[in-house]
Amino acid sequence: MAPNRNYTRYTWFVFVFVFIVILAGGVVRTTQSGMGCPDWPTCFGRWIPPTDASQLPPDYEKYLRQQDIDHTFNAYHTWIEYINRLLGALLGVFILIHLVWTYRLFFKTRRSLFFLSLFLLLATGFQGWLGKKVVDANLAVVKITTHMLVALLIAAIPVLILQKLKGTKTAVPRSLKSITVLALLLTIIQIVLGTEVREQVDEISRELMYGSREQWVGRLDKWFLIHRSFSWLVAVAGLYLFIRTRSFPLLRSNGLLVLLMVITGVGAGLLMNFFSVPAFAQPTHLMAASILCISLFALRLKMK
Ligand code: HEM
Repeated sequence: MAPNRNYTRYTWFVFVFVFIVILAGGVVRTTQSGMGCPDWPTCFGRWIPPTDASQLPPDYEKYLRQQDIDHTFNAYHTWIEYINRLLGALLGVFILIHLVWTYRLFFKTRRSLFFLSLFLLLATGFQGWLGKKVVDANLAVVKITTHMLVALLIAAIPVLILQKLKGTKTAVPRSLKSITVLALLLTIIQIVLGTEVREQVDEISRELMYGSREQWVGRLDKWFLIHRSFSWLVAVAGLYLFIRTRSFPLLRSNGLLVLLMVITGVGAGLLMNFFSVPAFAQPTHLMAASILCISLFALRLKMK
């Protein structure tokens, strides 16, 4: 039916937009723009932030005192963070439209879709609130981990909706289902370990005034070694799933995506390890980890 096709497309759009927002968050961090707007939801007390120091409010120093990086106004950092917030707000609007659309199409017939869409909106609202807390606490670690996990939850909901709409599944041996769940769990643990490493990188880079990148990795502690070694488990699970899913046409592309994301994630990790944390490798690593996690989830959903 045509309305369902458009709705399916729109759900895909929301899904892709979630990843754009995750990527924007990664870019904000790599460019050290996280505190580009010291207050929230306004930025230097304004809805549209200044482009030049002359436009700052008279009491702007009170904002700059909350900054960890810039002690003078930096329009570049401010606008990167502001665009990131706009993308987040747009996502909220798109999800609200999704909820209304789901209500109109499915509230009477398939209520679970409506509740999933509602949950998507609530999780996104929670993430926005957490974003404010992260700003208030100058990006503390537990909140960063929660922020990351909620982002993955937000990305997982449209996948669940899409799977429910499509409904095609493939019967597979129980062992394959169990290994997919195991790979997903390992990836989530690896992501949590990664956010611990990330927090350390944040601290070290701050101490070094965001320079001397060649020293960053050397200063990381045991969590980095655990994270690095743990990737063997994720990589073996990913490779195994790629090979096993070859014999199931419906699962093949998911299996390939899993393998590609393992290669990209580990590759970006190795680049950081051996080539002084090149800036582009940071968001690449984050995106690969996120897509890996979601593709494992999607893979499991397609199994009967
Ligand atoms: C499939 C395997 C891997 C996954 C799923 C993974 C996942 C992650 C995640 C989610 C983060 C946090 C990123 C952020 O919050 O911005 C992270 C950080 C990090 N990981 Fe991995 N990782 C993997 C393998 C590796 C490997 C093999 C290395 C090094 C040899 C590595 C080195 C790092 C470093 C240095 C950071 C800090 C990055 C930063 O500060 O932006 N990772 N990892």
